This record gives sequence, C-alpha cells and structure tokens, in this order.
Amino acid sequence: MAAQKAQLLGAVGGQTPQLKISEAASGRFFVAPARESRPLLNIPHVLNAQQFTPNQLERLFLRADELRKMLAIPTSRRSLASRYKGHQLCSLFYEPSTRTRLSFEQAATKLGVGIVSTENAREFSSAAKGETIEDSTRVINEYDFSIIVLRHHETGSALRAASVSNVPIINAGDGMGEHPTQALLDAYTIKREKGRLDRLHVVMGGDLRHGRTVRSLAQLLSKYTKNHISFVSMPGLKMQDDVLKILRAQGTTFKEFFSMEDARSIALRDADVVYWTRTQTERLAESEKDLFAQNTKLSSPNHKSTQASVSSFVIDLKVARLMKKDTIIMHPLPRVWEITPEVDNDPRAKYFEQAGNGLYIRMALLDTLLSRRMHL
Ligand code: CP
Repeated sequence: MAAQKAQLLGAVGGQTPQLKISEAASGRFFVAPARESRPLLNIPHVLNAQQFTPNQLERLFLRADELRKMLAIPTSRRSLASRYKGHQLCSLFYEPSTRTRLSFEQAATKLGVGIVSTENAREFSSAAKGETIEDSTRVINEYDFSIIVLRHHETGSALRAASVSNVPIINAGDGMGEHPTQALLDAYTIKREKGRLDRLHVVMGGDLRHGRTVRSLAQLLSKYTKNHISFVSMPGLKMQDDVLKILRAQGTTFKEFFSMEDARSIALRDADVVYWTRTQTERLAESEKDLFAQNTKLSSPNHKSTQASVSSFVIDLKVARLMKKDTIIMHPLPRVWEITPEVDNDPRAKYFEQAGNGLYIRMALLDTLLSRRMHL
C-alpha cells in the first residue's frame, strides 16, 4: 500500500519551468509553447500535503505569481486562454463547495481548458445507485478527460480514485482527510504576507477534529524549520493524533489549548498567523450536536455579552486587539459565526484575499499537471 501510494504521488521532480515567459522590448509577455520545456512538478496526482517539498512549493508559487501578472496583460491573457484548447477537466463534487469548485473551474477556463461539471454527485450521479468511486473513476477515464478534480465525503476517496485512474486526480477535499490545494493556497498567502514559511508561530483554532484544511496546512508547515503551532479548540474538537504524530516526527513543536481564555492570554498575543475555522456541524454525530450548540449560541455575532467573547471560540474585535500589529488573520471559509464581520475591516484580516489566491495557485497546478501529460 505504501509503495502504491508513493507511486501515485510521484517522484520529486527537479525540472525547469514549462511555461517560458520572455519580456520583449515592448514590455509585453509572450507564452512559449508548452512542449518546449519540461513540467514544473513531476507528480501524477495531487492527493495530500505531504507529497510536496519546499522546493516544489517555491516553484509553484513563482508560477502562480507569473500567471497573476500574465492575466493582467491583455495579450498574454489571450494566449493563456487558448493554451490547453482541446483539453477538458471533469469537476466531480460529491460535497458542497463555493471556492474550490469555482476557482478550479475558473482557473481551467483561463487556461483554455473545457469543463464538464457535477456539483451534487452524491445525489445526482450513479453514486446514489450504489456505484463505487473506483467504478465511477474507471468510467470517467473512458471519456477522454485530461484531469479530474474530486471532492468527496469519504476520507481516502481521492487515493482510491487515483489507484484506478490514468488521468490525474486532484483531491479537492476528502471527508475528514485532506484538502491539499487549500493548503497550497494557504501557504502561498502566508508567503506573500509574511515573506517566509519558516520560523512562524501559527495559531490554528476552531474545529480541528473535522477540519481537513488545518490537517493539510499543519503537515505542510511541518516541512519548514522552526515553526511552532498552537492548536486552540474545545477538547472534543482537538487535532487528531495522526497529525500530531507527524509533527513530532518532523520536529515541529506544538501546544494544545482547550479554552479561549488560555489562548487569549498566551497564544493569540504572540501569533504571526491566526488560522481560524468553523465548526463542521454536518460532520457531528447527533449526540454531539447539543454539546457544540451551546458554544454556537454563545458565539452568535449578534450576542453582545463580553462573557460570550471570552468563553467562546470567536475572533471578534476584542480578540483581534490582543494580536500583534503584523499578525495575519486567515480562514479557509466559509465563515459562519467564528470570526465576527466587524473584523473584516481590520487590515490584518486576509481571508478574502486568501480565497482569491486560490485562482492563481490552481492555475499553476493545472498548468503543471497538463504540461506533464503533454510530455508523457
Ligand atoms: N475552503 C473551501 O474549501 O471552501 P469551499 O468548501 O467553498 O470549496
């Protein structure tokens, strides 16, 4: 299984960028044909955060920066829009999504890739009749797609799909497992805002038990030196042991906080990055809902009590005031009540820009995966 997984994730590549940009005397950018150079990352599928090296991330971020610039220039924007003409992406979503689905589909569109999409595959695909993810993937492989973006409610589903797929699978979130492309855009945001991905104190708060974004980001940060992570959650929503074990093995220090009072007095005052998440009520057992409902009620943005702010896992203006001037506040979104809307106007709140960065990172990822296929 480990060997199969390693094969699915691919060798670590040291290739040169495949998308050459030269600046002519006119100052305009030109896009060289994709076949002239080799792929940026030699990876067959995108399944988890662990598969990326810091070196690969650096190259992916540079590519995302390049694509961002190119989109701002009409001539290069037009060149990009026909770059992968004739290729199609299958956007296969078994769970709800706004950001991941739309940004992938928009990224594909901007690269000239056609889209065939299903946004409620759990109900409207043959999964409703009992078809396995393996069989669905085998069938989709028959339809000449160049890439499959998969969001699924079951942990491990992306790996299962990849095990039978000749077409690259991108894990767009698998149950309580991982959300690697979210971690890529999170890391890209941190790099842009803080200028580094090492020597950071990152506070991750909220529902850490069900949050696949925090699971992926923690693992990605553990690849860099001298990061420290403070996990802040109710005891029942703590970070799972498998991730803590990986952090220990990689030498990333961490501390867990199970009350907002403790987090306020220690972790939040010292954070470089505060990464907050919502409670995933859709993943709670019926018996757990009462336990967390009380916290939700106390945390309502309309709740004016200071006590609520002190005792619940909410970032409001009072909590934001405790943070350093250069702390950045992030959230994978959707946000429900756990960051109050008044915080949105604080220049340290980066969650909407963070979501926007997803377009460029996903373009960079599609570009490298499609380019790799053209070289096979
Ligand atoms: N952050 C994120 O995955 O958002 P969506 O569920 O809207 O895709």
